[in-house]
Amino acid sequence: MNTIIQTIDKTNLTKENLKLAAGILQNGGLVAFPTETVYGLGGDGLRAEAAQKIYAAKGRPSDNPLIIHIASLDSLSLLTSAIPEKAKILAEKFWPGPLTMIFEKDARVPFGTTGGLNTVAVRMPSHPVALALIRESGVLIAAPSANTSGRPSPTKASHVIEDLDGKIDMILDGGAVGIGLESTILDLTQEPPMILRPGYITKEMLEDVIGTVTVDKGLLSKDSSCQKPKAPGMKYRHYAPKGELTIYEGNPEIVASSIAAQTKKETAAGKTVGIITTEETKSLYSSLLPDSGLLTLKVIGSQKDPSSIARSLYGLLRDFDASGTQVILSECFFQAYLGQAIMNRLLKAAGYRIIHLEDS
Ligand code: TXA
Ligand code: MG
Repeated sequence: MNTIIQTIDKTNLTKENLKLAAGILQNGGLVAFPTETVYGLGGDGLRAEAAQKIYAAKGRPSDNPLIIHIASLDSLSLLTSAIPEKAKILAEKFWPGPLTMIFEKDARVPFGTTGGLNTVAVRMPSHPVALALIRESGVLIAAPSANTSGRPSPTKASHVIEDLDGKIDMILDGGAVGIGLESTILDLTQEPPMILRPGYITKEMLEDVIGTVTVDKGLLSKDSSCQKPKAPGMKYRHYAPKGELTIYEGNPEIVASSIAAQTKKETAAGKTVGIITTEETKSLYSSLLPDSGLLTLKVIGSQKDPSSIARSLYGLLRDFDASGTQVILSECFFQAYLGQAIMNRLLKAAGYRIIHLEDS
């Protein structure tokens, strides 16, 4: 299939490419588009065949349900007839924005879209291109992240092209996304509501408006054997880079010296090594690292601005893939804000390989 790739300026939306994309969606085709979190791979959420095509293009298991994207609150009542009071309050406060809510599904929503579940995930994105595409097409757009299943989510169009060129009808290139991590998922079919995936909208922000919110245990550890993750997608090994990723946790000096020691060992064995550090901690490595062409040190962002870390994470993992880096050693990012969301993704990418270092 020839994939049409067109750039779109979010501050100056042109009708031609939006019209073309809208027509593709109306005809049951697939269009990748930017949202404020990550790029999505969109199809008609009310047509099971469109969901089938999405699963096929991503190589995604079809029991992993899709999020339906809407552009107005009226559309929510087409997808569910049970809108809890708390959902209305949250929609008022956080929509459009990076919050996905789970509801009982209306019969209109095909099981093909919800992975066979009786519930449906809904989100109103805030990205102007996403909103314009939903409005122009009149389609309620089912959209997972626009990556091949198991790869890091795309934060720019080039990532989508890498994974899906030739497999979908169109890619709208609206530049780099703002947040870089997928939306927070909140299940409102249980009381108190439960966070199934952490994101930019934190537990504290939700609790400020609706009171107690619980968090799916197992979100930060793989030791959820007693409890199946509530969001089916959270059980798969996601966001995985090709190299072997290990996270080091502890006092920054000890982390840097342990990472440096491991780097020496790996490069001596002829392996390529990538180190993930921050603006604040990069200088700790200066006298410790071997002078080796096998080594790359990448600054993910600043600890003072956790959103910079969130925004760079997936792109950085993809860069390591592109350069064929075999071993990736990362610092830990349990920053107060966004730390949960960042570490949830990083731990999964590492297959939960984390080394806890004691102060000596
Ligand atoms: O930010 C986002 O949410 C992005 C953009 C494109 O909107 N989308 C996204 O979709 O991350 P996806 O498919 O990559 O992740 C959706 C997650 C999966 O873990 C899935 O299992 C969960 O949402 N999910 C969807 N419907 C659900 C449901 N009815 N019950 C529980 N979990 C659900
Ligand atoms: Mg995804």
